[in-house]
Amino acid sequence: MAKPARAPRKIVILTGAGISAESGIRTFRAEDGLWEEHRIEDVATPEGFEADPDLVLDFYNKRRAVSTGAQPNPAHIALAQLEADPRFEVLIVTQNVDDLHERGGARNVIHMHGSLYGAICHACKSRWPAPEIMRASDPCPECGQMATRPDIVWFGEIPYRMDEIWTALRAADLFVSIGTSGNVYPAAGFVQDAARAGVATLELNLDPSTGTSRFDECRHGPAATLVPEWVKEQLTQA
Ligand code: APR
Repeated sequence: MAKPARAPRKIVILTGAGISAESGIRTFRAEDGLWEEHRIEDVATPEGFEADPDLVLDFYNKRRAVSTGAQPNPAHIALAQLEADPRFEVLIVTQNVDDLHERGGARNVIHMHGSLYGAICHACKSRWPAPEIMRASDPCPECGQMATRPDIVWFGEIPYRMDEIWTALRAADLFVSIGTSGNVYPAAGFVQDAARAGVATLELNLDPSTGTSRFDECRHGPAATLVPEWVKEQLTQA
């Protein structure tokens, strides 16, 4: 009798700023607590945007330019290779607003905190691709109001596609967290959600994250080295 084909191994991978660090994109929580010389409340909250839309749009225009000039590193590329292997069913959930996973070849990516490459009208909620330079005076192509903002989830707002993420997480065989400090919820809680559902958990990060003790296994080092090593193990052991 023919052996039944083995079901693909389901892996949910959470990524944060650390995976893009070696592509030259700065992480958020440096020692000075500032984000590109700004307080987080000024540039990453709806209140900050209301107080000074030009400052906030300029901040994201600069971040978009940095992201566009950056290249995917071996960590992004290795995850795309894992995703392309039919023995695995991979979902990448990223907190990053750059597009380095996609440019590294990944297809199944959820941007839970939005994207630098999207614009949204905060009046009628329609979305369109972000121009290179976004201005507060840009009219919405749908309703004509001057209410353009980057399609980014700010503090106090609800991340995107959470039901889909939690469903995939609970059904996974393995949850891997890469390059995130574990300070921002709901992503910081994924390790507990996974553990509660009996899903194995692995941390790959430069330093121990805030939630490091909750993982079954932790490896600490730079993502561009650790991630390709881990992917190679998966591809050879499968
Ligand atoms: N390789 C692996 N990990 C790295 C590397 C690297 N080369 N460089 C830094 N790190 C790790 C740091 O040790 C840190 O734990 O990446 C983590 C980055 O943490 P944060 O700067 O806090 O970024 P992140 O966890 O993605 O932030 C979450 O907070 O500001 C909000 O919405 C924003 O999506 C962001 C969210």
